[in-house]
Amino acid sequence: AIQRTFSIIKPDATKRNLTGAITAKFEEAGLRIVASKRIQLTLAQAQQFYGVHAARPFFDELCEFMISEPIVVQVLEGEDAIAKNREVMGATNPADAAPGTIRKEFALSIGENSVHGSDAPETAAEEIAFFFSGLELVG
Ligand code: CMP
Repeated sequence: AIQRTFSIIKPDATKRNLTGAITAKFEEAGLRIVASKRIQLTLAQAQQFYGVHAARPFFDELCEFMISEPIVVQVLEGEDAIAKNREVMGATNPADAAPGTIRKEFALSIGENSVHGSDAPETAAEEIAFFFSGLELVG
């Protein structure tokens, strides 16, 4: 089915001018960019977005990293968009990522791993609503 998923191009990637290269990977995989904006998160926003990870040992590091530079938040649309996006991103840890994936080609470490993508339809809907109003989604 046609789905929408939420994506973040993370600070390590925007800093290295990889916004276009990463967006091209999504488009080459058949995902359409139906919303996109460059923003810089506050600490409170990062903590809220990653609230599910609040008890993890890497939570503070994760939030500090996510506010260190601008990010690009996007909504990707296409057939099986959630799974397709996860395939294009590759494994969370770039050391485990398959050849040709975004994280294999661009990620620096498990933390500085260039992209975030929703893991399920429910989280996709929540994450899209966190960053975008309905008016900003243009299919
Ligand atoms: P993301 O999909 O954005 O969601 C949670 C993030 O936590 C994950 O990507 C990783 O970048 C990050 N993360 C996971 N494990 C670690 C770790 N051990 N150290 C730092 N960051 C991590």
